[in-house]
Amino acid sequence: MYEDKEGRLIVVSNRLPIVVKKSGANRYELTPSSGGLVTAMTPVLKRDGGVWVGWAGNYEEEGVVLETLLRQEEQNLAYSYEPVDINLKEYELYYKGFCNEILWPLFHNLSVYCNFSADYFKAFKRVNRKFAQTVAEALIDNDFIWIHDYHLINTGEELRKNGIQNRIAFFLHIPFPPAETFNRIPWRLQIVKALLAYDLIGFQTETDKKNFLEVVTTCIDESEINAKMPDPATIVGKKRENKVAVFPISIDYNEFSDAAGSKPVVQRYREIKEGYHGQKIILGVDRLDYSKGIPQRLKAYRTLLKRNPQLHTKVKLIQVLVPSREDIIEYGNLKREIEQLVGEINGRFSQPGWIPIQNCYYTLSREELLAYYRASDIALVTPLKDGMNLVAKEYCVTNIDREGVLILSRFAGVRQQFKDDALLVNPFDEESVVDALKKALFMDSEEKHKRMEKMQENVRKYDIYWWVDAFLQAGKRQERGRKKMLSADHFSTVVKAMKNASAVTGRD
Ligand code: UDP
Ligand code: G6P
Repeated sequence: MYEDKEGRLIVVSNRLPIVVKKSGANRYELTPSSGGLVTAMTPVLKRDGGVWVGWAGNYEEEGVVLETLLRQEEQNLAYSYEPVDINLKEYELYYKGFCNEILWPLFHNLSVYCNFSADYFKAFKRVNRKFAQTVAEALIDNDFIWIHDYHLINTGEELRKNGIQNRIAFFLHIPFPPAETFNRIPWRLQIVKALLAYDLIGFQTETDKKNFLEVVTTCIDESEINAKMPDPATIVGKKRENKVAVFPISIDYNEFSDAAGSKPVVQRYREIKEGYHGQKIILGVDRLDYSKGIPQRLKAYRTLLKRNPQLHTKVKLIQVLVPSREDIIEYGNLKREIEQLVGEINGRFSQPGWIPIQNCYYTLSREELLAYYRASDIALVTPLKDGMNLVAKEYCVTNIDREGVLILSRFAGVRQQFKDDALLVNPFDEESVVDALKKALFMDSEEKHKRMEKMQENVRKYDIYWWVDAFLQAGKRQERGRKKMLSADHFSTVVKAMKNASAVTGRD
């Protein structure tokens, strides 16, 4: 439990775990939002309580509807929501623009998708200031402010500029790219300086941390920032000391493992199994995103079928595509590309009573997802680049009979924990995926059990509570020696000043 005397936990992420959706004329409802950040942070807030600051999606009604919905939802929760309103222009320039046309592709090493527009950066700063203002309004005393992910890199700096001295930590859920890639962003120095406003900067893997430190070292060497690095975990600047550390994010092991053994999941997984009449099930579960390597995976499966007619009618690929960022052009193009490939493969290889790929374009309930995990003989997790990939962890933890095989991309963060207990592949190298599929299909039970047990043990030991405690402990350590926090009066003065500054200058 995150104790009161340490101050509350203020979690800040672009998205809240719920999204407002229109459910009829003038009627709105809250539905769960998707992605690893939400899966990971929900149990943390459930256990520790606190405040979750974020955006609840686009909705057309007045704020009062959202307020009512949120306050109803909160009644059953140990934490509260503080919504940040993002208007349509900001949605275009900040969310679709800076976040999804710059930071997401750049940080995933896919900079061909980047569109470095200066208007996007202005909107990014403006919206980060909005988040900072909402945080400042919610703050009391000694609260620990924990900012999440690429959307909000600048929020800490905005809080600092306005005199907030609370501990502020940042965790990046996605990869941090190598210096050569990062340096393509025209605002690279502003981004680095914004990160240095945090007391603690957390990454998913050693590679991400190393990449970030390389960028900082270059900035120091070229006198672009005035700081020193006494050791590879500390940056000492004029204003503060930043700790840089690795915290591989995880899941609630017990919750997933218990739920996988629950009656409804077992019943549903048996139904699924029976429905496929002994076929080997290969499962892919991904948000529909170009970082996930879905077309490459389908092509590898196509090659497997082409070369191995004896597998026809014996295997089935179930690809779950969770709708994501649907109004962004690249995502629409990718959906069409996937549908075309699925159509081509099914058209080419189908036989009476057998279709090689089942393509599902919708979000599954937790129960249904776990039933699919349990029913699958192989999980195919082959992103081109991924911060962690929680699907891989969830698949292993729910694989109670240990008869499943995880095929895993070398470029997923989770690889640094699972190492070669998973069957590692290079998603850019079709042959390696085809080989791994064959190996997995014919792997004996002893080997499957041995590999799965090690991966399960890893997640059991390093579960989401280990992660959050490690992070908060590291954040708190820096608290020693810091002077007393500021009074409530101070916070309201800060908020007033922030409101006036945006109203008067509209500055970017
Ligand atoms: N997920 C979900 N509904 C689905 C399929 C997946 O909520 O129908 C969840 C899944 O359980 C996992 C998350 O979405 O926790 C995906 O996280 P991951 O880290 O694998 O990738 P991300 O989407 O964050 O890039
Ligand atoms: C990834 C990111 C999250 C994001 C999620 C869904 O998991 O790390 O920050 O919320 O994708 O994407 P969206 O753009 O819908 O929020």
